[in-house]
Amino acid sequence: MEPQHGDRPHSPGPSVHPIGFAAGVACILVGLIINPKLIAPIGAAIAIVFGFLWARDATKEFRGAPVHPVQPERGGPPPSTDAAAVPADQGEAAMPEPEPGERFPRSKFLEFSTLGLGGVIGGLVTVPALGFMVIPAYRKQGYPMVDLGPLTNFTEGKWFVTKFFMHPETGDVSHRTAYIRNNGFLNGKPSLTIISNRCAHLGCPVQPNGPVQDNQAKEIKGKNGQEITMIPTIPAGGYGCPCHGGQYDSEGNRVSGPPVRALDRYDFEVVDGRLVLGKPYSVAHVDGEGKNARIHKYKLTGPGEHVDGWEQIFYPLQPPH
Ligand code: FES
Repeated sequence: MEPQHGDRPHSPGPSVHPIGFAAGVACILVGLIINPKLIAPIGAAIAIVFGFLWARDATKEFRGAPVHPVQPERGGPPPSTDAAAVPADQGEAAMPEPEPGERFPRSKFLEFSTLGLGGVIGGLVTVPALGFMVIPAYRKQGYPMVDLGPLTNFTEGKWFVTKFFMHPETGDVSHRTAYIRNNGFLNGKPSLTIISNRCAHLGCPVQPNGPVQDNQAKEIKGKNGQEITMIPTIPAGGYGCPCHGGQYDSEGNRVSGPPVRALDRYDFEVVDGRLVLGKPYSVAHVDGEGKNARIHKYKLTGPGEHVDGWEQIFYPLQPPH
């Protein structure tokens, strides 16, 4: 009797390799966002290994390697093991002989060509879309050193609202504001307090709680010709956020409202008598003030995220800034 389709073994059998391959691809995508230097290569390695194993399984029949087919499920009692074993070279052939001249069944050829074509089309559609989605987020990342002009412009003991461009070529999107006070010298080195105006709740721009002397605003040029605006201010009452009422003292410590930590600050250098702004960093809180301040400093973290205390366990990963 002709074997029915449902009685034929399924080949190849189930395998974890496609799942491993998918996990590798997922790892690459997550790694591109979280840690492109470590997690993405690990994901690539996983995808390559499992992809290779998957392809090897799928092509076993064509390569003539032994296949271990999965038998279809059948009802009824399990086959008896009492019958005497039949030698392999006797009895009926287990599989029908191939047609003369037929090496690969046509159904298999069509099955693999359809899958292969589907994979190629899927790749052609998905890879460029993913690339356009992910790559722009990684271009022009990082924080350039921003020249803010001669240090002597920053009168000792006074605060200045200082507006500058992080990447002048990108226009207003890179416009930033920092509150800067020259604290004089500490151990022979210049000391400055440079506080970011990004609220530590959701990122709104905080404002000084005190007069901003717009009539004394000064426009200066950075070393590369970029425009910098300096406006004297007296943030006697610290800083306030207009969005949800977050309040900070003049060192940027949270005083009240929804912010979860102090205001971020900037690193700096003084090069040839000019103030050069470096990378921003996050601050849990500041003890003391001015040149005597002890800053509890952390890697730059998103608004609303704790950097210390037990709550920090909720923010284990940081996307690139
Ligand atoms: S964004 Fe500043 S308090 Fe909410």
